Parts: sequence; structure tokens; C-alpha cells
Amino acid sequence: MNISATAAINALIALLGERGVLHDVRDLERYTTDWGGCRLGAPLAVARPQSTEEVAAVVRFCNEKRIAMVPQGGHTGLVGGALPAADRPELIISLERMKRIRQIDALGFTMAVDSGCILEEVKRAAEAEDCYFPLALGAQGSCQIGGNIATNAGGVNVLRYGMMRELVLGLEVVLPDGRIWDGMKALRKDNRGYRLQQLFIGSEGTLGIVTGAVLKLLPRPQRSLTALLAVASVADAVQLYARARRECSDLLSAFELIPRLGMELAFEAASQLSDPLTASHPYYVLLELAASGPVELDELFDRFLEQGLHSGLLLDGAVATNVAQAQRFWLIREAMVEGQRLRGEHLRTDVSVPISSIAQFVEQAGTAVAAASAQSTVLVYGHIGDGNLHFNILPPAGLATKVVPGLLQQLEEIIFAVVDRCNGSISAEHGIGRDKQEAYLARISASELNLLAGIKQLFDPLELMSAGRILPPQMES
Ligand code: FAD
Ligand code: LAC
Ligand code: ZN
Repeated sequence: MNISATAAINALIALLGERGVLHDVRDLERYTTDWGGCRLGAPLAVARPQSTEEVAAVVRFCNEKRIAMVPQGGHTGLVGGALPAADRPELIISLERMKRIRQIDALGFTMAVDSGCILEEVKRAAEAEDCYFPLALGAQGSCQIGGNIATNAGGVNVLRYGMMRELVLGLEVVLPDGRIWDGMKALRKDNRGYRLQQLFIGSEGTLGIVTGAVLKLLPRPQRSLTALLAVASVADAVQLYARARRECSDLLSAFELIPRLGMELAFEAASQLSDPLTASHPYYVLLELAASGPVELDELFDRFLEQGLHSGLLLDGAVATNVAQAQRFWLIREAMVEGQRLRGEHLRTDVSVPISSIAQFVEQAGTAVAAASAQSTVLVYGHIGDGNLHFNILPPAGLATKVVPGLLQQLEEIIFAVVDRCNGSISAEHGIGRDKQEAYLARISASELNLLAGIKQLFDPLELMSAGRILPPQMES
């Protein structure tokens, strides 16, 4: 940084106005505290541009003055990518004031938005035009489209509609030197050379700041069916998934695993919830079917249910009879994640393995964790249809706070070793950020690392944007 902090803040105010820059420590808290609440960054300030041109002006200024930057969306990311560094003054560039729905094309099923639009608001705007934007995740009331793009977010409907990567048609990006790359095309097919926009999706703010996107829409589902089903084991849940895929046509839109402990955590976090089933069971599946045309979901589902019960795979189940009940089933899924957070520091993973290896992975990882720490509790849940599980660990109750991080790190390594044996991925949906960097770098070849570093160097030779996320700082020089 070749300018004083005060001079930099004054120059930013000149570019964005007083409301466009936050620098008082009291205003910074929500931008500098991690979701878990246990980590703090120390930024130079927060810049809050209102347009692509303002983002470009801020980035150009930072480039000229060698000021490090980190883009920030809704700050719900789970790998520490948006959290400003604690040991050097980064400028947070928040997209929160870029919230314009630019255009909805209900005929072509596309939508152009500013990247600061909140996911839930995008979904609502699509619905108002009888369309549907399918990305759905627990943080959708706070996360932004730009953050979803930067992390290539997944969520609960991926098995049918794909991850964010598959839902983006066009992008607008401010590059680390302040140039604007305009790729805002609403084309389903465009095969001209390299697909630059795909490079930005999942790049976690390291290659540029996403300012706009053209999203793919679908017809709004007119019917849906939500059921909470009880099964005896993870293996049975996987078997049931294969049946649901075959028997529910292409209409299966969610198939989420919830363990008994997950139900209990949900009830702890949301006291208005109660168990929809009379007896408790080891595992549950939250299943959803959705259709936009005149399809008889009930008939299809009844047949699936009957066969599931007959085969012994299904132990019990409840089908939502109205929208409010379906929402309560989904609230169990969301409240479980909150309940886990309320229990305190824990290990979060978001691994994936081939779907047919899920049961074997859960068994082997469970055994390995129990051998290392018999008192720790496994909470395994997630997206069966994507082979993506959150194999999480709650440390033993009452364990001294200072030994918890060490234990959780040891258990993470144990779990990742099982992931490796299953030929899986240590990060299926949350990305690398800072938290998964060490484990990620340990698993890529020197030639892959060299190519990745070359990409970073090409886009950001001064290494000013989100340095230290995904790749370690200075590696490119
Ligand atoms: P932030 O947290 O602000 O940023 C995330 C990363 O993207 C950072 O590296 C940041 O620098 C970068 N970034 C943000 N905006 C931009 C931009 N405009 N341009 C360039 N880079 C940018 N994730 C899933 O995939 N599936 C889930 O089911 C899921 N469930 C969640 C549930 C809860 C309760 C919570 C708290 C999180 C969950 N997440 C999930 C993680 C998180 O919501 C997603 O990663 C989300 O996509 C992040 O969006 P955000 O706007 O909050 O991004
Ligand atoms: C979930 C997030 C944490 O699936 O990815 O709940
Ligand atoms: Zn998830």
C-alpha cells in the first residue's frame, strides 16, 4: 500500500460519497466477524459501491495505490474467504448496495441481476413472473448472487437443477486492475473458444469481482410434494434414493439425509418444531418432488411409498398435506444447522464421494473417528443425491476450549483420509477459502498447482485481490 490509511479512505469517500465508505470500528463488526462468530478480521475500511462503474473506479484506485481488496457478499461463506485478513489492511468491497433486478425475460426464461441481490429476493422476483430460480440453501435470506457465483454454491436442489455453475448464462466482472469484462449474454449455447465465465464461477473472489449475472430460469413448479421418511441406515437411504430416481421420473428435486441427532438439534434451535413421526428412527430422508405441468405427483409417490414399505427400506413416513407443513419439514433441515452452531465450536466438512460409496464412507469415517476420539459425536447429513455429505463432529461436552481446535483438526485429517480412499473430494460445495487450503494443496499435483498459479498471475499479477484464498499468498510471484 503506497498511501496512508487516512488518505485512502478520503479518496474512497471522494469516489463513493460518505455513505459509500464505512470506517468507524462500530460500523465494521458485521463485515469483520465470521459466521461462527469466533474470528475477526481487521480491514482498512468497507467500500459500498452502487454500480459496476463505481466498483471499477474503486478497484482501479486500489490497483494504482497497491491496496489489497476482498469482495464480500452476504458474508455467509463457510471457509473464511470473505473475512478480511487480520494481519494486513484489506479493503472490503461489499456488493450490498448493488441490488437491482436488471431484467426478467419470462419468454426466454432468463433474468439479469446485480450481483448484490439477495438469493431469496431473486427467487421471489422470478416467481412474480411465474418463473423459478432453483438454487436453494439455508442462507438464502442473506447470501448474494455474487457470493453464490464466487463459491459455485450448491444447496438442496442440485440433484435436479445443478450447482450455480449450471444456472449462470452470462457474467459481468470487474477485473483486479479495474477493467470491466462484459459477458452479460443470455445465450443457452455459445461455443466460442474458452468459456471465461466458467473460470470466475467458483473462483472465490480471487480473479475479479462479479457485478452482474444473467441467470437461467425455469417454469415455476405448480405442484410439489414433500415427505419426511424414516430409514434404518445410511445404506438404506442410498438404496431408497436409487429407487426414487427410477420411480419418480425426473421430478425428484431434493433428497436430504437427516440423522436422529439432527432432528434433536433442530428441536433445540426452533422450539415451535415437533417430530412429525410418532417413534424416533436412526435416519430420515427429506424428499421433494416438483412439477410445472399437469403431472399427478400423488400417484407416482404413492407407488414409490408402497414399494419402499414393502421392501422394508422405509420404516415410516409423513407426507406434508399443505404448504405450511412442507415448510415446517424444511425448517427442521435448516434449524438443524443452526442447532449445531448453538452447540458451540464444531468441525464442519462438505465432502463428496461417489454415491455408491456413501454408505462405506460413512461407516469407515465413523469407525476412524470413534477410534481417535470415542467421546466426540458424529453428525452426518446432507445431499445424498449429490454424493455430498456434511460429516461433522461435535467435540466431547465439557472438553477444555483450548484443546478443541487441535482435536477437530486431527479428526478432519482422519475424515479426509477416508475421503481419499473413497476417491472423493474434500470440498464439494463450500469451496477452499482459507480453511481448506492446506488440505487442498496437499492433494493437488505440482503441475496442477503450476497451472492454477499461472491463471491467478494472469488475472491478478500484483496479487491484490483476495490474496491467500484458495492459493497461498506470494506463490504466484
Ligand atoms: P460471502 O460469504 O460474502 O463470500 C463468499 C466468497 O465469495 C468469498 O471468498 C468472497 O470474497 C467471494 N465473493 C462474494 N461476493 C463476491 C462477488 N460479487 N464477486 C467475487 N467474489 C465474491 N453453501 C452451499 O453451497 N450449500 C448450502 O447448502 C449452504 N448452506 C448454508 C447454510 C448456512 C446456514 C450458511 C451460513 C451457509 C451455507 N452455505 C451453503 C454457504 C454460503 O451460504 C454460500 O457459500 C454462499 O454462496 C455465499 O454467499 P455470500 O453472498 O454470503 O458470500
Ligand atoms: C447445508 C450447508 C451447510 O447443507 O451446506 O446445510
Ligand atoms: Zn450443504
